Amino acid sequence: MKITYFGHACLQIEANEKTILFDPFITPNEKAKGIDIDSLKPDFILLTHGHEDHVADAVTIAKNSNATVVSTFEVATWIGNQGIENVYPMNHGGKKDFDFGAVKLVNAVHSSVLPDGSYGGNPCGFLLWLEDKVIYLAGDTALTLDMQLIPRWAKIDLAILPIGDNFTMGVDDAILAADFVQCNQVLGIHYDTFPYIEINQEDALKKFENSQKKLHLLEVGGTLSL
Ligand code: NI
Ligand code: MN
Repeated sequence: MKITYFGHACLQIEANEKTILFDPFITPNEKAKGIDIDSLKPDFILLTHGHEDHVADAVTIAKNSNATVVSTFEVATWIGNQGIENVYPMNHGGKKDFDFGAVKLVNAVHSSVLPDGSYGGNPCGFLLWLEDKVIYLAGDTALTLDMQLIPRWAKIDLAILPIGDNFTMGVDDAILAADFVQCNQVLGIHYDTFPYIEINQEDALKKFENSQKKLHLLEVGGTLSL
């Protein structure tokens, strides 16, 4: 399984011969200028919530690729209203088997509104059963005790956590989150995109190391194999 980072909270996972794209925010992101969204042909687009920095390119890429957009009921409905036919709504606590694997929508403590001001429902994270691995993608969230439920549902191989602070967890809380979900392999997202969420990467790597955990930080376009 291959994970490719497209900057901010956007990544792509290739598993079971399918391509799944998460939270596309590429064209407005200065740091992702090298990524051509017309080259992206995902089979599925998963959205954690309605904020612009997670849905900016979702409609364009869905139109280009005919991908099915999976998200909360409110976000999926909004995407449908933008002219996308293939939408699949879910909501918190629900699990669904797709041809690429299974998805469970889990809680995230954050907010959600669509770019035009439409109600975005509650934001979510995803628990993903892909091939023989399980990935927890937290979405934009604070540290929350609900994360302690995650290991009751699955043994996690990789936790994808926001680390940029200010709008989400920062590094210290992400280390606690890794404890809550019982996973020592963490891929950091949602940092260094804009001044609000700039971090000291060296400090972050050291803090994780001091907690006997591994923080993976990818360059835009960089990949991680699982
Ligand atoms: Ni957000
Ligand atoms: Mn965000």
